[in-house]
Amino acid sequence: MKVHIIGGGNLGVSVALGLAKFSKDNQITVTRRNTASILYLEELGVTVSKDNKHNIQEADIIILTIKPYQVDTVLAEILPVISNKVVASGVSGLSIENLQKKIGDSNYAIRIMPNIAAQFGASATCIAFNEKHKEVAQNVVALFKDLGTAPIIDEKLMDAATVLAASGTAFALRYIRASMQAGIEIGFDWKTALDISAQTVKGAAEMILEENIHPEQLIDRVTTPQGCTIAGLSEMETHGFSSSLVRGIKAALKKIKG
Ligand SMILES: NC(=O)c1ccc[n+]([C@@H]2O[C@H](COP(=O)([O-])OP(=O)(O)OC[C@H]3O[C@@H](n4cnc5c(N)ncnc54)[C@H](OP(=O)(O)O)[C@@H]3O)[C@@H](O)[C@H]2O)c1
Repeated sequence: MKVHIIGGGNLGVSVALGLAKFSKDNQITVTRRNTASILYLEELGVTVSKDNKHNIQEADIIILTIKPYQVDTVLAEILPVISNKVVASGVSGLSIENLQKKIGDSNYAIRIMPNIAAQFGASATCIAFNEKHKEVAQNVVALFKDLGTAPIIDEKLMDAATVLAASGTAFALRYIRASMQAGIEIGFDWKTALDISAQTVKGAAEMILEENIHPEQLIDRVTTPQGCTIAGLSEMETHGFSSSLVRGIKAALKKIKG
């Protein structure tokens, strides 16, 4: 597929890198106004351009990874030269209805919410679309499946997906940082503590995804009666470990909804 990514920043570059590494037989273009910092993508076969319209007529999918306030400027540039295009938007807060109004009925609005782990083929990209665009959306779903998982969700959960899957990356990283900090306190240098913490989280996540079971079933396998793990868990819960995370996620959702 010919994939045209407008907005080569944090997310756009992650998606481009992921597609270059994990999704075969695509031609990828990434645009932004100042391209100097992303020219290295060309070594991976990605076309980098300052021109948002560069070969856009040939694109099968146009991906928007720009900030909400940049949308109207970008669309004013590209709309005169596109029709029958799938426009997959990762722009937070821009509804399918509003995007569809902006791009007109000759194009198809799809909403995507990837995260920056797309670069490693490990994003959880939530995707929403109108039923009438189900067929054209399948290419988008297939593309993002190459970059991790791509659950199709009801659009009304898109803000929740933003918090759980995009902000969630930061929340998970904060857990790893705290675990590293504790690792230093109990005797490791920071690098060893970080490697152990990150690999342990990766292993836990892989077990859940592989076995498709509730986390408590796996926790049960680790907690020996009267052992150190249950002692640690009980202490953490006394200090609000789970409730703090739940409250944080709900606060983030409240913020996104304004
Ligand atoms: N970062 C994440 O983890 C994440 C996850 C999910 C969703 N999102 C959403 O994705 C969007 C992008 O987020 P981000 O963090 O990647 O932001 P970002 O790093 O600021 O990237 C936006 C990019 O758009 C480019 N841009 C601005 N105006 C442009 C124009 N007229 N034409 C072409 N490119 C233009 C900017 O580069 P120039 O200034 O050089 O043009 C910039 O590199 C936001 O709506 C955000 O909410 C982000």
